[in-house]
Amino acid sequence: MNAQEKKPIDWKNLGFDYTKTDFRFTARYSNGAWSKGELITDEVMHMHEGSPALHYAQQCFEGMKAQTAEDGRILLFRPKLNCERMRNTSRRLSMPEVPEELFLKGVKEAVRANSAWVPPFGSGASLYVRPLLIGIGENMGLRPAPEYEFRVIVSPVGPYYKSGGLSVISLAVSDFDRAAPHGTGDVKAGANYPGGLYATRKAQELGANEALYLDSAERRYIDEAGSANIIIFNKEKKLITPKSSAILPSITRRSLMTLASEEMGLETEDRPIELRKEVKSFVEVGACGTAAVLSPVGKIWFDEAWHSFYGNGEEVGPVMQELYDLLREIQSGEKADSRGWTVEV
Ligand code: PLP
Ligand code: COI
Repeated sequence: MNAQEKKPIDWKNLGFDYTKTDFRFTARYSNGAWSKGELITDEVMHMHEGSPALHYAQQCFEGMKAQTAEDGRILLFRPKLNCERMRNTSRRLSMPEVPEELFLKGVKEAVRANSAWVPPFGSGASLYVRPLLIGIGENMGLRPAPEYEFRVIVSPVGPYYKSGGLSVISLAVSDFDRAAPHGTGDVKAGANYPGGLYATRKAQELGANEALYLDSAERRYIDEAGSANIIIFNKEKKLITPKSSAILPSITRRSLMTLASEEMGLETEDRPIELRKEVKSFVEVGACGTAAVLSPVGKIWFDEAWHSFYGNGEEVGPVMQELYDLLREIQSGEKADSRGWTVEV
């Protein structure tokens, strides 16, 4: 595709917002079977007022990005892992699993049909892909929905955090919990998120970008941020990341840990990280996820004080910079993808 076919958008100044694109993919589950799915233009969903998605939050979602490579190919990043995670979430929420074939078809068709909305190579923006699975149909009691809709919507987006690009963010430890150890924190249920809106507002009142959650059993160990996992480069020159049964298994974090070990030769550890005990050993901290990509965390607020990391909490450290570059170059096709992580649409 050449640049003239793209929509006339100021790609460099996009925020992380909803933009109505031309098509969305939808498939239905009823009487025990999935429809083959189709592209539609209507962005408004019509659903029964008794739908369990509305009353009991029987719904889940995923998030991934499509990027334009220099040669014009459109690339997805490890979409099968999003599918696997959505299937895990569905099982936990008693929803039918979207078969991998249907999931990938929905994602690819939604991206392809909206290719004019995929930001051009080098613009710094990407096409955010949001698969949704919702329980619909007539219901009142607390029981699984009689029918389900799988929908894939897309929107061109810029940086998630207001500071933009690879700029340093800050987090504030929340007085609220995100997820219980044996709850639903390790799946991508929409219901995990609204409680965090208030926590995020409180964090923002302190001047932070987002809330950081500790484990809800003891309030000692780092869990994750409101929309991203945490990675830490410490004084032992190890890249460590919290091990917890209550956090979302981030695809970005898993990829970064692999790159740190295989491309940068860093020792990596996935283990409980006790914030107060270990904070002095943190050299560089990062928040990572599809939306957040890898955002260096300059400082964290807790116990009534800011605790700063690399460059007085104002500079991007070399480890986060290298990890960010490696990830971004693979995702945009600039660096050879020896692991088969990118999938052409
Ligand atoms: N943690 C939470 C709570 C999230 O919402 C997300 C976003 O999906 C992540 C972590 C990062 O996960 P991923 O890298 O798979 O996007
Ligand atoms: C993502 O990173 O894809 C997410 O789902 C986070 C969301 C809160 C924007």
